[in-house]
Amino acid sequence: MISAEVEKALAAQINQEFTAAYNYLAMAAWFDQESLDGFAHWMQMQNQEENMHGMRLFQYLLDRGGNLELDGISKPRTEYSSVMDVFQSALEQERENTKSINKLYELAGSLNDYATKSHLQWFLDEQVEEEKSIEDVVALLEKIGDDASGLLYLNDKMGERSAEKEE
Ligand code: FEO
Repeated sequence: MISAEVEKALAAQINQEFTAAYNYLAMAAWFDQESLDGFAHWMQMQNQEENMHGMRLFQYLLDRGGNLELDGISKPRTEYSSVMDVFQSALEQERENTKSINKLYELAGSLNDYATKSHLQWFLDEQVEEEKSIEDVVALLEKIGDDASGLLYLNDKMGERSAEKEE
């Protein structure tokens, strides 16, 4: 049986994943309104990934016989000053999420909850990828600066992202 502490922390993490999904959806809408369809598409893919992360934890908690009372999702930020502003915000969100997964892993370890640790292993690896992919975009945006043609080129590239298959 899963401990009440881990149950509570998993519920909070589920909320965090769906909050991230909603934030990415708001970012997709922002890009769409800026006529940057490639970036909008990329953010929609990101939204799908976060939903999948939330569902992985959701199913895991239920499979362990845990109780789950879903919490509310707060209103996402909808105003951004630039493409870079959006990606800085996304990066901050991912870094916070990494911290949260690490804490959860630590908690599971301190309670000798090996199954939860094992389940979280996938998330630890995923966070490395998530942070890297956004850091790469931030680095490219820095290079592009005020060059509109560079930004449009990147917009095209971002539009090529395909949905990730769940492992
Ligand atoms: Fe679910 Fe982007 O971490």
